[in-house]
Amino acid sequence: MSNFAYIVGVGHFVPDKILTNQDLEQMVDTSDEWITTRTGIKKRHVVQDETCSDLALKASQQALQQAKMDPAELTHIILATFTPDAYVPNGSTVLQTKLGLNQIPCFDINAACTGFLYALELARNICLVNPKAQVLVVASEVLTSRVNFQDRSTCVLFGDAAGAVIVSGQKRENSFQITDVCLKADGSLGPLLSVIGGGSSHPPRLGLSIDEKYFVQMQGQEVFKHAVRSMASICEEILSKNNLSSQDINLFIPHQANIRIIEALAKKLKLPLSNVYVNVQDYGNTSAASIPLAFSEAYQKGKISSGDKVLLVAFGGGFTWGASVLDFIE
Ligand code: UT7
Repeated sequence: MSNFAYIVGVGHFVPDKILTNQDLEQMVDTSDEWITTRTGIKKRHVVQDETCSDLALKASQQALQQAKMDPAELTHIILATFTPDAYVPNGSTVLQTKLGLNQIPCFDINAACTGFLYALELARNICLVNPKAQVLVVASEVLTSRVNFQDRSTCVLFGDAAGAVIVSGQKRENSFQITDVCLKADGSLGPLLSVIGGGSSHPPRLGLSIDEKYFVQMQGQEVFKHAVRSMASICEEILSKNNLSSQDINLFIPHQANIRIIEALAKKLKLPLSNVYVNVQDYGNTSAASIPLAFSEAYQKGKISSGDKVLLVAFGGGFTWGASVLDFIE
């Protein structure tokens, strides 16, 4: 059994339509000033008629192209999302068909904003057991399908996007060694961030209209505190487990939910802001897509050089949280 799996292709996609803070001022009682100072968000991309699998397809095609791979070379598909096209069939089988594939196993993972790191860990383990595996890991969210655009406390926060990586058992030029992944969850805190409507605890009933439970419900301040604490603690844990300090990290890519969370986290970890990748201003919180979107964008902008260590960290509903250390090998 090999010791490592590798990310050999990276891609992302966002829909064309942009919703600015000024647009939201026309929709709910909010202001650009409130959104900017409380979250750092200036705009977000939103779908018009695209679905989760449409965004996932575009991000996957970019990752495959970057890896110089044909879709037929894939052995597994894992899709991280809580906004799939449908309950059944699962989102990854819909994506499989759109990629022109059949036969290979496909599964969805729902770990909310931590979904990408959960999927990455699964893909890594598939490759460690079978070094010939080439796993497509996609995180795609159409958050706006589960946001109440009459609720100012949530509708200003989220956007739609997808990010994808190809995880392989074989090292290649320009690949990221997945040095480690750590994952955690605490279900007792689940009610602080939830989308209950449509589940078996709150099933749809013929003749009844949808209610607020079908949309993202969040106790923002509580989630904020847990997000900073949990992400700081899991970063410390993964660094110490790998005999690293925060000074060894060349690029830190945290979940993009709120600039104040990112700054508080960087301060706790003693990481200079110049080593922190931030794009929350352009996309808002894109849940599971947030990390691969930021990772892919940072890579395409040339922010990652040979020998760099990258630290990823995410936090989301469940609660779930996780971190990963990657080493870029040219
Ligand atoms: O991705 C998963 C993890 N999610 C997160 O990490 C999100 C964590 N939470 C947060 O980022 C922040 O808590 C929020 C951005 C959601 C909210 O910021 P806050 O500083 O915690 O604001 P708040 O909820 O305490 O609200 C402060 C005030 C309230 O008014 P009063 O009661 O003080 O009069 C709200 O009604 O701001 C009001 N408010 C707004 N005002 C204008 C809430 N939303 C808005 C809005 N525009 N959009």
